[in-house]
Order: sequence, then structure tokens, then C-alpha cells
Amino acid sequence: MRTKVAIIGAGPAGLLLGQLLHASGIDNIILERQTPEYVLGRIRAGLLEEGTVALLDEVGAGTRAHREGLVHDGIELAFGGSRHRIDMKAATGKTVMIYGQTEVTLDLMNARNAAGLTTIYEASDVQPHDFDTDHPRLSYVKDGAAHEIACDFIAGCDGFHGISRASVTPQAIQTFERIYPFGWLGILSETPPVSHELIYNNHERGFALCTMRSTHRSRYYVQCSLDDHVDQWPDERFWDELKRRLDQKAVDHLVTGPSIEKSIAPLRSFVAEPMRFGRMFLAGDAAHIVPPTGAKGLNLAASDAHYLAGALREYYDEKSSAGIDAYSATALARVWKAVRFSWWMTSMLHKFPDTEGFGARIQLAELDYVVSSKAAMTSLAENYVGLPF
Ligand code: APR
Ligand code: PHB
Repeated sequence: MRTKVAIIGAGPAGLLLGQLLHASGIDNIILERQTPEYVLGRIRAGLLEEGTVALLDEVGAGTRAHREGLVHDGIELAFGGSRHRIDMKAATGKTVMIYGQTEVTLDLMNARNAAGLTTIYEASDVQPHDFDTDHPRLSYVKDGAAHEIACDFIAGCDGFHGISRASVTPQAIQTFERIYPFGWLGILSETPPVSHELIYNNHERGFALCTMRSTHRSRYYVQCSLDDHVDQWPDERFWDELKRRLDQKAVDHLVTGPSIEKSIAPLRSFVAEPMRFGRMFLAGDAAHIVPPTGAKGLNLAASDAHYLAGALREYYDEKSSAGIDAYSATALARVWKAVRFSWWMTSMLHKFPDTEGFGARIQLAELDYVVSSKAAMTSLAENYVGLPF
């Protein structure tokens, strides 16, 4: 088999890249380790920047998002017992859209099927080869038989635990990491959201977030210990803990109900540099991870796919390597700003082991500054709605 771009991973990064390339007439094949059902079963954040929605539109996969997504003009920050609204639309002219990553993935899968593009699911032992030459290839096993794909380029869109980054010689790659000393315990429930906008709560018992998937489905998170296990968090305990961290008005409006999903996620910031190794590129979680505070992960996967598709288009249409040569630096410049923003939001809102005394007062001063200074509010808002790309 031969293709121009062999993509590893059918998450949002790989699927969006595949559609963007297809729109430019660049053929591609996706190899995915899991089944489509497994990929769609992963519950992740669900907040899209306008730029991400525009990319879905560009590949004809945005129709359902516009119909079912919830457009939000602002968010609320809660601390010291009261809530303060950040009007993102007033500050930046932009909004964000609540639309689950699962739905984005499904819409992209459907667009890919409709375009008749090849996706090989349940491909095991995927391995990139010779990406430091002009003739890269991918080997894999499907139904017990070994196969190979010859290609011009490899796109490693295979997430944090993928094979592409792991295939690079350690001397060629530099990584930067921060592990946070807590996790997020999240639940999904078939209940109306406590408020029509997201509420980020800084509380002495720990962070809490009220978010949603739709007008009748809520998603709530509480900061938890890294040692915690979901079994230790029956629904009743979760709702009790959430209520203790919310302001009184929110507690009065909160509708509780049985959870339909419950999971614990650790928080990490991670960046690998560069994002290009000869004829192999990394995009999305394969190259970087951000903590979920601010929901930048999916949006970064989208901007990487946009930069990479543009670079490859330039290569094929204009016979120029300028775009692919600049890809890593261009993508990383935006990545690091989102890494900074999500680290800052995380630092301001969570209880750290040293948030007693001095640290707690600094957080409150920062929050008070953010909600009372137009400049600070605008800075938060422009990062939250997404920096341009
Ligand atoms: N071979 C083939 N496929 C693989 C391999 C492999 N060796 N390793 C991983 N994959 C697949 C995974 O099964 C997954 O479907 O690559 C895909 C990577 O998808 P994601 O983890 O969703 O990563 P990405 O597409 O970069 O999307 C980033 O996901 O983690 C969230 O917050 C993050 O929202 C962001 C988004
Ligand atoms: C979510 O809806 O899951 C979500 C929203 C905003 C965040 C994180 C998660 O900052």
C-alpha cells in the first residue's frame, strides 16, 4: 500500500488532519489501534474555541456542532463565597462552544466515511520506519497478518502513549514536564446544569468545576487526591463534596442524580520539542499534554492539524519545504502559550500542598485582581476563547 501521508491515531488530531489534507487533495490513510467504538467511548473535555469550530466547518463536519452545541459568552469564577462573571464576548468579541469531544470525533469519523477515506482500525504493532530518509514507511499487523504502508510523510497523532514520539532517538528530543499533586474526579449525570455558564470554583477544600454537555446533561469535577479511586466516591459522597465547594446560590440550584460516568484523571503539563523529525511530524497529545483547566487539549490538537495541513499543502502545491520546515516552531509557539495559560489557571484555582496561609492569600488576591481589572480580565478572556492561529 502507498499513500502520501500515513497518519497514526484516529483521535481528533488524526481525524481532523485527515479531512484537512483530503480537502486539499492530499490522500492519506489512518491507522488506529482501537475500534471506533472504543475511541468514541473515551469521555473528555468538551469546549471548542471559535477557531476549532471554523476548522470543523472547513472540512464540512461542523453542522451538528452548530445545531447542538451551546454557545457561551462568559464564565464565572467563584471564590470567597461569591461568584464573579468574566464576559468573554464583551472583552474579546469571541465566544466558546460546549460540544463534547466524543461528538467532534463522531462527526469527523462520519465525514471521513462519507469521503470514502481509508481508516484501518484495530491495527496492532504500528511502527514508523525510515522517517529520517525520503522513503518513510509504517509497518503494522492486522488480523494476524503483517502489512506495510509506504508514504511521503508520517503524522504521529497517536496521543501521549503513542508509538511515534517513542520511536525518536532520545538525543533528538527534549521534553518538559510538570506533574500536579492532585487529580480531577469527574462525573456525568442526566441532570440540568446548575447554571447556564461554567463555574470555576476556588475553595479551601479544593477546586470544583460545574460544566455541561447539553441543557439536560451535566459534567462536574472536584479536585481529588492522586491516591483516590472511583470506588471510594459513591455518588452521594461526590455530590456532598461538590456542594461543600460551591456558593450557596449554586447549592440551592444544584440538581443531583445518578452518575452515568465517573472517572479520575491526573493533571500534567508536558511538551516535546521539536514536533518534527525528518519526515515524521507529531500533532496533538502525541507532542503535548495540558491540564484540563481551560480545556485547551482538543483545541491545541486542532491548531496543530491546521498548521500541519497548511505546511503539507504548501509542499505539494507549491513544491516548497518552507511550511514543513517552520511547522514545529509555529505550532510550539501556540502550544507554549496554552501550556502557560492552563498552568496559570490550574495554579490559581487549586489547593496545593503549600496553599495554606501565604499561597492561599496570593490566589485570592490574583482572583480578585482578575475579576476587578479590565486588563487582567481581558487577558484571561483572550486566552480562554483561544489565541489566533
Ligand atoms: N497505533 C495506532 N494508534 C494508536 C497508537 C498506536 N501505537 N497509540 C495510540 N493510538 C491511538 C489511540 O488509540 C487514540 O485513538 O491514537 C489516538 C490518539 O487520540 P487522542 O489520545 O484523543 O489524542 P489527540 O487526537 O491528539 O487528541 C487530543 O484528546 O486527550 C485529549 O485533551 C486531549 O482533547 C485532547 C485530545
Ligand atoms: C468539560 O466540559 O469537560 C470541561 C470544560 C472546561 C474545562 C474543563 C473541562 O476547563
